[in-house]
Amino acid sequence: MTTYKLAVIPGPGIGGEVVPEAVRLLGSTDLKFDCRYFEIGYEVFKKTGTPVPDDVLAGVKKTRACLFGATATPVGVPGYKSAIITLRRALGLYANVRPAKSYPIQKSMKDVDLVIVRENTEGLYSGMEFELADSAYSMRVITRKATERITRFAFDLAIKRRKNVTVVTKANVLRMSDGLFLEVARKVAEDYPEVEVEEAFVDVTAMRLILKPHIFDVIVTSNLFGDILSDEAAGLVGGLGLAPSANIGADYGLFEPVHGSAPRLAGKGIANPLAAIMASKMMLDYLGETSWAERIENAIITVLKEGKVLTPDLGGSSSTTQVTDAIIDAL
Ligand code: NAI
Ligand code: MG
Repeated sequence: MTTYKLAVIPGPGIGGEVVPEAVRLLGSTDLKFDCRYFEIGYEVFKKTGTPVPDDVLAGVKKTRACLFGATATPVGVPGYKSAIITLRRALGLYANVRPAKSYPIQKSMKDVDLVIVRENTEGLYSGMEFELADSAYSMRVITRKATERITRFAFDLAIKRRKNVTVVTKANVLRMSDGLFLEVARKVAEDYPEVEVEEAFVDVTAMRLILKPHIFDVIVTSNLFGDILSDEAAGLVGGLGLAPSANIGADYGLFEPVHGSAPRLAGKGIANPLAAIMASKMMLDYLGETSWAERIENAIITVLKEGKVLTPDLGGSSSTTQVTDAIIDAL
């Protein structure tokens, strides 16, 4: 049997509370994992001058996939760049995949089953920022290469789903950068005649997500728009406690909850572990362990349906570890 080498980076705040729960759950399957733990982020930056040191990156690269918790990015520290964004870029993880699917709980809208495919390496998060004459500038970089790669990823995914892609831009205003995004997406779409394509602006998409979320299958968009729309989509189906994501590159995958370190919630033992557990489920799909992935998904649905063991964000009063215990029992 394969032993999967995993990089595990729990991170600060609730990252350090939910990732160990996902690891505990993986340990209750009959799969074998060799977990290697790493630290990145602001504390590491203070010691080494970089949020993601070379030896950490080299260690992570020796693994097959990464389970990640959260970073806490201090605002207004000159020279500091978000550790997770740095890591995603260093590993070439160009596609950020964020599913939002209805769950059998009161807080979730019905009939939602969509995936947001967010470009993960450039856009407004290019990291190119500068100050000049009392003004500040952030460069919104859209390249033909990255756009082709991400739109192709979205169409390939749509083929396995309901065969519908919505290309989301603001091309009416961002005429050059999103003009290029749209041009490339249209060209890629020609290779997928069986996929229905819609083009939509980001503002109207934000509204339609609330009014008619069931019309969406795969949404493909640039970095910032995808970041915002995916938190919104998470809100439709129960909030950040239930929102996982995958960061996929040519030969590596990093899996994380959409949420961050939630400092105000940290230390109370009541953070919802399900987003991290769902991220580990996405990792199993990526590793080809689809039958365990399905069993985990079913266990989550069973526990949510019963509604007895839920963390406070879902209206319950159970702790982080009690929820994991319930999932393991249901498995
Ligand atoms: P956040 O996602 O950490 O938390 C937002 C709110 O959502 C929390 O106040 C909490 O009420 C709720 N929440 C999030 N996860 C939950 C869970 N598992 N169970 C129950 N409730 C949950 O976002 P926030 O507060 O804007 O950022 C906090 C820190 O996290 C910042 O330093 C930010 O930079 C970082 N961050 C890191 C991310 C990453 O590493 N990928 C993503 C988002 C934020
Ligand atoms: Mg976000």
